[in-house]
Amino acid sequence: MSQPTIESILHEKRSFPPSPEFSAQARIKSMEDYQALYDAAAADPEGFWGDLAEKELEWFQKWDKVLDWNPPTAKWFVGGQLNISHNCLDRHLGTWRKNKAALIWEGEPGDSRTLTYAQLHREVCQMANVIKSFGVQKGDVVGIYMPMIPEAAIAMLACARIGAVHTVVFGGFSAEALRERLKDASAKLVITADGGYRKDAVVPLKPQVDKALDDNAIPSVDNVLVVQRTGDEITMDSGRDHWWHELQKTASADCPAEAMDSEDMLFILHTSGSTGKPKGVVHTTGGYNLYTHVTCQWTFDLQDTDVYWCTADVGWITGHSYIVYGPLSNGATTVMYEGVPRPSNPGCFWDVVEKYGVTIFYTAPTAIRAFMKAGERHPKSRNLSSLRILGTVGEPINPEAWVWYHRVIGGERCPIVDTWWQTETGGFMLTPLPGATATKPGSATRPFPGILADVVDLEGNPVEANQGGYLVIKHPWPSMMRTVYGDFDRFRRSYWENIPPKDGQHFYFAGDGARKDEDGYFWVMGRVDDVISVSGHRLGTMEIESALVSHPAVTEAAVVGKPDELRGESIVAFVSLESEHDPSEELAKALKQHVVEDIGAIARPQEIRFTDDLPKTRSGKIMRRLLRNLAAGEEISGDTSTLQDRSVLDKLRGGA
Ligand code: WTA
Repeated sequence: MSQPTIESILHEKRSFPPSPEFSAQARIKSMEDYQALYDAAAADPEGFWGDLAEKELEWFQKWDKVLDWNPPTAKWFVGGQLNISHNCLDRHLGTWRKNKAALIWEGEPGDSRTLTYAQLHREVCQMANVIKSFGVQKGDVVGIYMPMIPEAAIAMLACARIGAVHTVVFGGFSAEALRERLKDASAKLVITADGGYRKDAVVPLKPQVDKALDDNAIPSVDNVLVVQRTGDEITMDSGRDHWWHELQKTASADCPAEAMDSEDMLFILHTSGSTGKPKGVVHTTGGYNLYTHVTCQWTFDLQDTDVYWCTADVGWITGHSYIVYGPLSNGATTVMYEGVPRPSNPGCFWDVVEKYGVTIFYTAPTAIRAFMKAGERHPKSRNLSSLRILGTVGEPINPEAWVWYHRVIGGERCPIVDTWWQTETGGFMLTPLPGATATKPGSATRPFPGILADVVDLEGNPVEANQGGYLVIKHPWPSMMRTVYGDFDRFRRSYWENIPPKDGQHFYFAGDGARKDEDGYFWVMGRVDDVISVSGHRLGTMEIESALVSHPAVTEAAVVGKPDELRGESIVAFVSLESEHDPSEELAKALKQHVVEDIGAIARPQEIRFTDDLPKTRSGKIMRRLLRNLAAGEEISGDTSTLQDRSVLDKLRGGA
């Protein structure tokens, strides 16, 4: 590394304050309100979180101490006892919310189901008893490998209810990836379905489970519980496999929630490293319950009339925190959709918004760029007037995509909450509060109250305004990951030692580069692993890509560095075009010129490669690491098990 920080070259100036009408009805109405909360939390974090824990959650036993911080180990609400499934279900049953819709589910083929809080509670209790009947006990691990159906949420809540630890594996992962994760967690039981519907096709799941368990590959797994979703024929091993619906028929709906210690493990969720085996991120009960509850309530300004829809999959942290636990703990109505935009209905998301009167819509930049590419006619032909808040998560959002989202989906009236966070952080770290924060396209704005975030150099010194650097968190927060499952040392090395502690100050470093502007707004510049070094300048990917995406012909772009004798690296841009534009030499030239005009000659791509698609992870993040291999003419190296569509790489190779 030639320089300790990252240079920032693109400065987006537009600003969008919430309307006075919106702010007037919001929970947090102004920047003064925000600042008061932020200051209170910074001055007395334990008082701040302790008060919220008392007010917002039900505890079976109160804690003795709010925080025990022995870096990098944090214990929150020490000695307290609670159960997150109780907070998500039981406590609403004594209120009018008993018969409120908890979960509205829409299947891809058009079937649907609504479960009230009372109904969801009943099914969770039944399944908790079924899970117990397999001998699963408090602390045992249950693997969940499911399509996006209500039973996925029911299974998670049923585990939490009896103190079993769930480990959800995204239903799009292969048998090998599933085996690796189940094995790492020593799962005792696997809950799955025969299959699910996705992109106009049936995705078989049970056959993958069979393959993963083949030859007794995971000796800890004794039983498999199978939901019948598609009705396709599958093999059932008579000693091992059981049908969900059959066991549900006779299961008792009486299952008191187990009293869990605040620091008892709630779940393990694997994140893919670029090399090496996936990390099992461990989250515990009390702090996670509180933090996802409060962030969901304030960031989405949740009201009892809201119909809230997060389009993520429950296989990702976003699904855990903001489809299941956060919304249900608040007694909100959460929508779950099995499908994704697909050839037979590119506008299916807008159908769901119209059908259920969705008021809060939360998705990812990759989806927004796909909506742009599919064209305005799809959203324009539906009634989206119920929407009042939009959200985005997963990658830095390019300002042009942000502005399109604001205009076409939000009708210029809905605040956009750009939430920066990670599997490891459990909940939102940087985010606007929609009634308070003036948003700027491409910025996740300010830290959530209680989060002490900063941009520093490798020695931990804060960098100046508008200088790029390393995004760090300087104080523990309730939903921070506690360890890598079975490997505390890896946890310490991966997150707490990249920037060494200084004068007793510890830095959680998340792997992202960022800058802070003169208003204290954070701009995430992408993963520092992706930084490109041109003639001694270290450039983040986000800014160059955003310049490319701001050209009318471009929908999506990824830039990577290619070794260059003179400059260290040169910039190669992979670009996909709006449907009405074709690749040409002239266009490539025009795009290079556009970047030069937008941000300067230093960022001029040496090479433009046109492509229909970019390689992405299954959660929609661009995999620049693979493009780097391609640009350099190397073999693809490192782990590719999270790649969404292999054919994209083959096409890129062929076309290069
Ligand atoms: C990226 C998803 C910019 C970032 C919740 C982070 C973002 C990684 C944003 C975590 C955002 C997520 N702006 N970048 N709003 N949200 N990221 O673990 O690089 O799947 O470190 O968690 O996604 O991804 P993960």
